[in-house]
Amino acid sequence: MSTPAATAAATTGTGKVRAMDKFKNLGLQLKEKAQIYMEANPEKVEEMKAQAFETLRKKIDEEAEKEEAMKLALEADGKKISKGEQFKAKAVGVLQPQIEKLAEKQQQVVAEQTAAATAASDTGFVDPETTTTTDDDDETPTATPTDESSRGGCASSTAAVAPSSTSTLSESVPASLSTEQNLVSKNGVTSAYRLASGYEMPVMAYGTFRSSAGEVYNCVLEAIKAGYRHFDCAHIYGNEQEIGKAFHSAFSEGIVTREELFITGKLWNSDHDVMIVEQAMDHSLSNLQLDYFDLYLIHFPVAWTHTGIATPGWGQSQLGDTPLIDTWRELERCVTLKKVRSIGVSNYPLLLLHDLVTQARVPVSCNQIETHVYYTRESLVKYCLSRHICVTAHSPLGGGKANEEQYTHLTSPLEDPVVVAIATAHNITPAQVCLRFLLQRGIVVLPKSSQVLRMKENRQTVVADPTMHLSEEEMQQLHGLDKYQSYKTNPNPLASFVGGPDCFTQEGTDIFD
Ligand SMILES: NC(=O)c1ccc[n+]([C@@H]2O[C@H](COP(=O)([O-])OP(=O)(O)OC[C@H]3O[C@@H](n4cnc5c(N)ncnc54)[C@H](OP(=O)(O)O)[C@@H]3O)[C@@H](O)[C@H]2O)c1
Repeated sequence: MSTPAATAAATTGTGKVRAMDKFKNLGLQLKEKAQIYMEANPEKVEEMKAQAFETLRKKIDEEAEKEEAMKLALEADGKKISKGEQFKAKAVGVLQPQIEKLAEKQQQVVAEQTAAATAASDTGFVDPETTTTTDDDDETPTATPTDESSRGGCASSTAAVAPSSTSTLSESVPASLSTEQNLVSKNGVTSAYRLASGYEMPVMAYGTFRSSAGEVYNCVLEAIKAGYRHFDCAHIYGNEQEIGKAFHSAFSEGIVTREELFITGKLWNSDHDVMIVEQAMDHSLSNLQLDYFDLYLIHFPVAWTHTGIATPGWGQSQLGDTPLIDTWRELERCVTLKKVRSIGVSNYPLLLLHDLVTQARVPVSCNQIETHVYYTRESLVKYCLSRHICVTAHSPLGGGKANEEQYTHLTSPLEDPVVVAIATAHNITPAQVCLRFLLQRGIVVLPKSSQVLRMKENRQTVVADPTMHLSEEEMQQLHGLDKYQSYKTNPNPLASFVGGPDCFTQEGTDIFD
């Protein structure tokens, strides 16, 4: 039996249902009306939509501004901002003043050197091989001292690669600033190239590509003992940890100090993303047991999708979407963080390099490129020197037999009859001829050898020894060997795209296209 209260509740419930139905019907009617209105007035609807979007956009902008202002305030307060905030904040220029300051300092070095170079070109360049002192002798040493024992005699007046007639090439750095003016010479021998950053790079490096695990530790120690002070490393070579152990042994045994070495690292293609660059650099530094790089390069001008820092991409690669300049900006930031002293690129063709030069705030110190007697790359070399960009030659021996077997049907330049004839005439080896050909053009060389005798043989080319000097005529003969084609001494990423979404031909995509 229902109580009066229960009856009242039931009545109220029924009333609620009725009221809800009423509202529902009203809603449906309104919706129908709105539908009819919208169909009859499409322009009005578009206008309303646009207004709604505009309001929303403004709101988003306001929120973003508030967030930026907050970060700026935090920075101004001197509070430490998190890594994530740093990344966001630099987009609005919080770190900008630091970068500007550094760029200004480095540009000043370039300006000073330009002035010195102009003065030197007025008085004429002094061949360090035929004199005991040069204009460079009095220059203040920079923060990367080079070992006396590593000084060699590579420069010659034949390296006049940037004649004044090409001075229209550059606004900022006159073409008279050719390699000779940047070669640091003492007592008549040349040991180093002064980079745009102001630091000195020894003109002969020890290359570490294809020095396999198990052998590279000894190779690096032997190279240090043989007098090498410049080491060319890269994450993709897969041997950083072992090289790190060798450096550690050399430092702890007192064979050499960290400051005496010049160590280069390279950012791999799959680590170009702005959030990854610093991490990749840290990873390599940790592998090598170092706390800074002397030079860090973008290994190739191509971004691939990230595959993990410890697992760099190779094969079936997919193009990434990070613009090269964004990756460069990260390197600039790492300079301000003192993780690297000088920054540069590798395998950049002339036009891409110029594009970078027009945008770089911290000067581009180096372009590491494949160049040897079969691939002289005169335009690119001259462009670099006209912009005070040091050229370092990878695969300076054309990769030796290794490349002949691995990448090309061409014979090794070490067996070329012209090279062999010049070597015989000087009573030196074909490898030494190939290295002298580059050194005398003002190019820094990075030969690799796992054999101690060859390491010494190669290094002998930077020791003052008049029998090594190639004449102008011999230089011309060697220039004549240029095949104007890449000898494909790299593990050219041509095949690396095969099977991937960015493989546009059956053969793959040539990175040098
Ligand atoms: N940035 C890049 O993309 C890139 C690409 C390639 C290389 N690199 C750098 O450049 C360095 C050198 O390049 P690379 O190793 O390809 O080529 P390379 O130095 O031109 O040639 C190395 C080959 O030549 C042999 N060799 C060395 N000295 C010799 C001599 N005196 N007489 C006869 N043969 C000799 C070596 O064999 P043994 O070891 O048996 O002596 C090795 O097979 C690399 O180690 C790496 O650091 C950079």
